[in-house]
Amino acid sequence: MRVVLLGTAAGGGFPQWNCACALCAAARDGKLPSRTQECVALTGNGRDWWLLNASPDIRAQLTATAALWPGPGPRDTPLRGVLLTDAEADHVTGLTVLRGAPDLKVYAAPPVRTVLAPARGALDSYAPWEWADSLADGGFVLAGGLVVTAHPVGAKVPAYVPAALAEPDGRWVTAYRIEDLATGGVLLYAPCVGSWSDVLDELCAEADCVLLDGTFFTAREMGTTVRSGARRQAAMGHLPVSGAHGSLAALARHPRTRRIYTHLNNTNPLVDPASRARAQVAAEGVEVLPDGIEFAL
Ligand code: MLT
Ligand code: MN
Ligand code: ZN
Repeated sequence: MRVVLLGTAAGGGFPQWNCACALCAAARDGKLPSRTQECVALTGNGRDWWLLNASPDIRAQLTATAALWPGPGPRDTPLRGVLLTDAEADHVTGLTVLRGAPDLKVYAAPPVRTVLAPARGALDSYAPWEWADSLADGGFVLAGGLVVTAHPVGAKVPAYVPAALAEPDGRWVTAYRIEDLATGGVLLYAPCVGSWSDVLDELCAEADCVLLDGTFFTAREMGTTVRSGARRQAAMGHLPVSGAHGSLAALARHPRTRRIYTHLNNTNPLVDPASRARAQVAAEGVEVLPDGIEFAL
């Protein structure tokens, strides 16, 4: 399976358009690498490609990735569909960019499908898509020979969801386990993780590579950039990297798995390759990669 990291930043990207913090300023000055909003493309056969989430930057991301260019017919595309991990704006709004592409298939968990119902109706009027339940028993197989199971990992409801639909439900956020039957390679994709669980330990242990939520390095870092930021950060439901109960301590239990942080917020010092945070993560053997990197499993 080929995996391309199309984008590696959290919602807003890096630099974020309305953020004047030191890190965003450094990115605008070209001193730190910019990052587009988090999104992944993968394929088992090099012909049929699938997106993991659809970021608002998807047009630029597809344009920057030759394997995803259209052809050979004038409206042919190697894109077959999208696997959504949640209903957050930075993971679903890219679907509007893809409108009109015939025969796309979109997988999502039941609460995500429900809250997207109006958008689904709107998108289907450009070209009907197939909307499938990612949590259906037995998982599913993607064209190209990839076997997928979805795993509930969080109950965080997006801020825009009306109260009537914001039911407590442990399936709002899922991770995907994707296995290439030909190579045996297994990818675990978990860009939104509110708290660690035994399930994540089991999934990490048997994956060759994990792409994990690296939104925040510390539990209150947004508080140092904007007023009321710490409270907003707590409501966002992302387990921080550092700390005794952070994700880095959990990843340290899985040294044989390739471990990569993604969905980096613009406040996260990991966006700076020279930061102490970056050195700490590297010392544990965990990676932070730039946009556009491709690897095989
Ligand atoms: C998140 O990852 O928590 C969301 O993308 C937040 C947001 O939509 O701003
Ligand atoms: Mn996000
Ligand atoms: Zn910033």
